[in-house]
Amino acid sequence: MEKPVLSVENLSLDFHLRTHILHAVRDVSFELHRGRTLALVGESGSGKSVTARSLMRIVDKPGLMVGGRIILRAEGNETDLAQLASNSAEVRAVRGARIGLIFQEPMSSLSPVHTIGSQIDEVVRLHSKLDKRAARARTVELLGQVEIPNPAEMADRYTFEFSGGMRQRAMIAMALACNPDILIADEPTTALDVTTQAEILDLIKRLQTERGMAMLLITHDMGVVAEVADDVAVMRFGRIVETGTVDEIFHAPQHAYTQRLLASTLKLEQPADARAEAVVTPQPILTLKDLTKVYGGAKGFLGTKKFALKAVDDVSLVLHAGENLGVVGDLVLARPR
Ligand SMILES: Nc1ncnc2c1ncn2[C@@H]1O[C@H](COP(=O)(O)OP(=O)(O)OP(=O)(O)O)[C@@H](O)[C@H]1O
Ligand SMILES: [Mg+2]
Repeated sequence: MEKPVLSVENLSLDFHLRTHILHAVRDVSFELHRGRTLALVGESGSGKSVTARSLMRIVDKPGLMVGGRIILRAEGNETDLAQLASNSAEVRAVRGARIGLIFQEPMSSLSPVHTIGSQIDEVVRLHSKLDKRAARARTVELLGQVEIPNPAEMADRYTFEFSGGMRQRAMIAMALACNPDILIADEPTTALDVTTQAEILDLIKRLQTERGMAMLLITHDMGVVAEVADDVAVMRFGRIVETGTVDEIFHAPQHAYTQRLLASTLKLEQPADARAEAVVTPQPILTLKDLTKVYGGAKGFLGTKKFALKAVDDVSLVLHAGENLGVVGDLVLARPR
């Protein structure tokens, strides 16, 4: 196998708080390979975002890297990002150009006072020698690649004129502006409605595959992991407790925490303590089995069969105590039978 494009080795990071030292990331190791997606999963506060931000050396104060290596490989060269100053020219060159970042809230990375196009132009020009006109052509091309309709015209619009999904697309375009080798996506779809989430996720996955990028995907959603990831790292209390392929993690989870994570009652959004009791075997309080509902279809006057509509077709589900079960779907016109 080709050498990983990024190797994180025994990374540790502390926050020096007023009353104590918080060990946010502890001895974390993983590898990112071209064309593959590693999902980093774990409950809220487990250290996923801090780990991701460490790779770009953008951890907020008072965060301090206390150990480990972050080896970035390109054309036979190896650079240890952990050894470089976070504001050094080398690290700035890596951000955006080698590693692109997409996160949950596009508003915090998009300026409200500049057009979308001018912001992407700026990123393009920062890392290339393109002139203004060529940079704009590249911006329009990128907006097209993230499936923004009429990209040339939309480039002149402001952030507030874009919907949530379109802002996320614009941020993806910005992250891809310099053809990075690595894409970090930190909960990229959490703030979007369910249908838009699926579209954006499809887009990210398609771009990652087409461009052969290595992706680090942070998510709470094991459904997303199953759909998008090749490998999984499970994080808890700052440590990676289990790593494996998606198949291994879903079918033969070794660590008790991973097993609980996969049990439907465990809600990653809740902090660990609040969940301690939820781990007991859940009791179903509602069970639907093979439910079907048909409207119409009875024999009418003179024995002609009337129009029938199958509104519910063989639906089964179980609702456990303490569980939130979401039923989602698209608006489709049911076909008459
Ligand atoms: N700037 C900061 N100052 C102090 N502590 C911080 C800071 N940023 C993060 N932390 C702490 O580091 C720990 C890990 O945070 P992190 O944001 O990585 O969690 P996460 O796994 O991404 O959670 P979530 O799923 O909620 O996004 C948490 O305990 C958090 O409170
Ligand atoms: Mg986070």
